[in-house]
Amino acid sequence: MPDTTSALGAPTERREGPAKVTGAARYAAEHLPGGLAHAWPVPATIARGEVASVDDTAALAVPGVVGVLTHLNAPRLGEADDATLAVLQDARVPHRGWYVALVVADTLEAAREGAAAVTVTYAEEPHDVTLDAASPAAYVPEDPDGNPDEHTRGNPDEAFAAAPVRVDVTYEVPPLHNHPMEPHAATARWEEGRLTVHDSSQGATAVRQTLASLFKLPEEQITVVSEHVGGGFGSKGTPRPHVVLASMAARETGRPVKLALPRRHLAAVVGHRSPTVQRLRLGAEADGTLTTLIHEVTSHTSRVKEFVETGAAVSRVMYPSPHARTGNRVLPLDVPSPSWMRAPGEAPGMYALESAMDELAVALGLDPVELRLRNDTRTEPDTGKPFSSRHLAECLREGARRFGWAERDPRPRSRAEGPVLIGSGVAAATYPVLVSPSRASAHAYPDGGYVIRVNATDIGTGARTVLAQVAADALGVPVDRVRTEVGSTDLPAAPLAGGSSGTASWGWAVHEACTRLARRLAGQLGQQLPPEGVGASADTEGTPDTNYAESEYARHAFGAHFAEVGVDAVSGEVRVRRLLGVFAAGHILNARTARSQFIGAMTMGLGMALTEHSTMDKAFGDFAESDLASYHVPVNADVPAMEAHWIDEDDPHLNPMGSKGIGEIGIVGTAAAIGNAVHHATGVRLRELPITPDKLV
Ligand code: MOS
Repeated sequence: MPDTTSALGAPTERREGPAKVTGAARYAAEHLPGGLAHAWPVPATIARGEVASVDDTAALAVPGVVGVLTHLNAPRLGEADDATLAVLQDARVPHRGWYVALVVADTLEAAREGAAAVTVTYAEEPHDVTLDAASPAAYVPEDPDGNPDEHTRGNPDEAFAAAPVRVDVTYEVPPLHNHPMEPHAATARWEEGRLTVHDSSQGATAVRQTLASLFKLPEEQITVVSEHVGGGFGSKGTPRPHVVLASMAARETGRPVKLALPRRHLAAVVGHRSPTVQRLRLGAEADGTLTTLIHEVTSHTSRVKEFVETGAAVSRVMYPSPHARTGNRVLPLDVPSPSWMRAPGEAPGMYALESAMDELAVALGLDPVELRLRNDTRTEPDTGKPFSSRHLAECLREGARRFGWAERDPRPRSRAEGPVLIGSGVAAATYPVLVSPSRASAHAYPDGGYVIRVNATDIGTGARTVLAQVAADALGVPVDRVRTEVGSTDLPAAPLAGGSSGTASWGWAVHEACTRLARRLAGQLGQQLPPEGVGASADTEGTPDTNYAESEYARHAFGAHFAEVGVDAVSGEVRVRRLLGVFAAGHILNARTARSQFIGAMTMGLGMALTEHSTMDKAFGDFAESDLASYHVPVNADVPAMEAHWIDEDDPHLNPMGSKGIGEIGIVGTAAAIGNAVHHATGVRLRELPITPDKLV
């Protein structure tokens, strides 16, 4: 029986599931071209300075080692926008863990043994890796539009001083690491001047562009394949050093080269969430109406490149206030380069804002759901633009109803089971609606099948599946008649799986291609299709809504999290008992994969709240946690009854599918809801994540 369920919105199972669980799906490190050599990089052991000398004699003597690349013999690369990719180009060591050599060998074991045998001496310089929010070296960076990333409305300081009810609090979020299941890996081979790379990436299009520029090749001479990717959470959103090193080594040795980074290296070379110090000042009238909102965030960046964890951005979206200052500042240090981690900016920013809102509710003696409802708005506070849709109030009300919020006694420490104090908390969520130009093609074949081609990346989210649904919907055919090809630069160019923008961007192009194809087919009704089929392609560069970027609408998804925790008054252990999220993110295109996205991100938020943190070792200048034994992501035993619900929005200002992104909003606000629940349970207000037993007892 063909699957004739309505394609869009149906809980369609992900198509690559059987291939993944049977091992048939091949990841970047699982391609084994003939003559394959293996590479192992050598990380710097100082936090700042220069390589003084490299002795590779012992490494080259290891049986099977075929070469050692260092800044002294590595080929000169072309220009890259991203300075973290200028590997082995000079003697400079900008942070501990920066790669200073690469050993290539016949076997993985020989490469690893060779790497251990390379002797590097350094001219070491004093380093500074301490995030001091008061440092005079911290500055206000430019936002992507080139404006200072500090926005002011009215007179926030005066208004704060005059406010009847005030909260002035500082929150700290530690460095966090993405740690996808599949560490970063690439297999590269050169054949007659053509480079083919299997890379574990969230966006092969950008990897190809970058390799073209670094190796000074036309893009047509490079193919980058990212067919199956075992997660990334932003750490694979940009090209990473491993793909450059593998390509370089393959060219230098004349053999295919595989470089699979050991997890222990990831902490230093593929990004992390920068720690943030966030001062919040909220001023309100006695009825809870906000009169001033000051959100000041300081994060760190490396000396290699500027990356800003833009925590203050959420305070430009959430609540209206006549007086406001929202600013991001950044301090360059001798640290590894921070980068994107799921909801960069929003996740830590919303932890601070929504924790402060809870503190304000307590100060006012007002229910925290009611406080948020009283500060709801139809226009974006920072821009004055109307929201294309905003169902935050509906999410709060629906969540409160499902959670049983009305039965809650607002007094802290009002509920216990034996030694376990029980509390509940709420927090709101928001994430912007982003979209990038994409291309796609659609073909119809005489057997009644259709093929959609787009260089989308399925990082475990179900992108292939949802794009087939988008196509089936636009073509008006059952979804099992549509095949999708994704994950290769040989397909129509498409943007990365990031910024919760993948489905909107690729889907828009797929929808357009299918609509054109359907029109062509309608014109050929009654005629036989040629064996090669009939095709149509679409390029949404200059999207159909040409004013999308300059639209008069502000577009964001919203949500509400409710958490119930039990805190052991003896041990200080916090267990989340229930977590419930309600989201408003346009039309939900696949109920099954959407639920997975929401609860996956909520789980990551639970980790942010209770278990995850990286510690900057000030003496060594590197993170102490570098494996999953020391960096604690939540496991099944940590994850309680978790529910994700949504309010379907009919928003005509989005894209042909009417969808908003859903990859990141689930993590935004989760940690605040849990922290607020811990306060309700215990009466203790912690302002530093994660909430570990040592801080509670
Ligand atoms: Mo996400 S941090 O945009 O991959």
